Amino acid sequence: MSVFNRSDDDVARGARALIALPEFGGDARRDITARLDEAAGLAEAIGVVVADKLAFKVRSPKPGTLFGSGQVEQIATAAVQAEAELVIVDAAITPIQQKNLESATKAKVIDRTGLILEIFGERAATAEGRLQVELAHLDYQAGRLVRSWTHLERQRGGFGFLGGPGETQIEADRRMIRDRMAKLKRELEQVTRTRGLHRARRQRAPWPVIALVGYTNAGKSTLFNRLTRAEVMAEDLLFATLDPTMREVALPGIEKAILSDTVGFISELPTQLVAAFRATLEEVISADLIVHVRDISHPDSDAQQADVEKVLAEIGAAGEGGAPLVEAWNKIDALGEEEAAAVRAEAARREDVVTLSALTGEGVDELLRCAATKLSAGNRVLTVTLPVTAGDAIAWLHANGEVLGQNHEGLETALEVRMSKAGWARFKAGFGGLPRIAQDQA
Ligand code: GTP
Repeated sequence: MSVFNRSDDDVARGARALIALPEFGGDARRDITARLDEAAGLAEAIGVVVADKLAFKVRSPKPGTLFGSGQVEQIATAAVQAEAELVIVDAAITPIQQKNLESATKAKVIDRTGLILEIFGERAATAEGRLQVELAHLDYQAGRLVRSWTHLERQRGGFGFLGGPGETQIEADRRMIRDRMAKLKRELEQVTRTRGLHRARRQRAPWPVIALVGYTNAGKSTLFNRLTRAEVMAEDLLFATLDPTMREVALPGIEKAILSDTVGFISELPTQLVAAFRATLEEVISADLIVHVRDISHPDSDAQQADVEKVLAEIGAAGEGGAPLVEAWNKIDALGEEEAAAVRAEAARREDVVTLSALTGEGVDELLRCAATKLSAGNRVLTVTLPVTAGDAIAWLHANGEVLGQNHEGLETALEVRMSKAGWARFKAGFGGLPRIAQDQA
């Protein structure tokens, strides 16, 4: 169920939909069929039936309708032929364009942002995810206040308005949205604080954290389930996972690690949703290892990889100073024999790449071995000298690292500790100028 109050704007499950994809100049990076398939996948994720999907070359977007007038006619005809009551424009459109397209096609029209908001609304699993999504939805709707607001009317027990609301009505609605957004932001702060506490508690556990990231539908949930034997929803739907999920996993030579599943990445994520999406990625920033799951059988696999890496770099999770990264080239079973052989050869030439099938299990053990090697390769043995009064820091080291030796000298304690790079970074961030850290010993 959506986290929002249902309104006349909501899309009915089972509705027939037509997808209209505008192709802009300079957009040639992605394969058009794959983009149409992705849009269809997103639409199916909210339970609508995709009756037809069409791409249109748009050289100069029209302010009133986005598409040219001939294209609008084609869309209207195709909608009638496909018996579609819904037209999904796979781009961001303005409220005016939406309204004009609705009257031209006699169908309800939603854009990519609206579509993703619906999905996030249905899939948000944690309190934080739900708050972020509702906030994003309000922000999006605030720009569209000319449209009916029956659900808000219902919420405050007023009367629905026939025709358009007057100026005062719009003002009142704006104020109500502002108030609601302010309240949500306060709740969000509270939730984020609680989550921070949970994370701090977990960081005290001496287990490395491995984060699975990847493009939507790459197979993260399937791999997560295989590695942890947990029942996490895995469906052939995009966004089967919106909030990070954590489980234990055993690795060769490492008794226990925590595996974290994250929400899938997506191209052209609407700006209103960036915060909601990034909230789900916080876990990745503090991970000891990132496993980037890629659907290697997807025609846009390389473009998807670039998207994921760009966001990881932006949030400071990968690259310089970030956690080490392993690429899991998934769905090798979906390739023909020759192609699979070529992909395997390419992977063998590269460092930190494992080919596998989360579905059949092939290659999964190798991924675990690779992850274990990466985790311990990042380990460094350092000697830390602290005042004996620094009980917190000493306890932290015992909890997060492997203490190989401890000596008391006067008012100081020297500890020899083995810990991952990420662990050392966390220690330095948390206990700043307190300790003297001696030379690397391994
Ligand atoms: P989001 O939650 O949307 O980010 O997706 P995800 O990355 O968690 O993908 P999920 O595990 O839900 O898998 C998506 C689809 O790909 C499902 O239909 C899986 O059965 C399928 N799939 C996953 N791994 C493999 C694989 O190794 N081979 C094949 N052929 N299909 C796979």
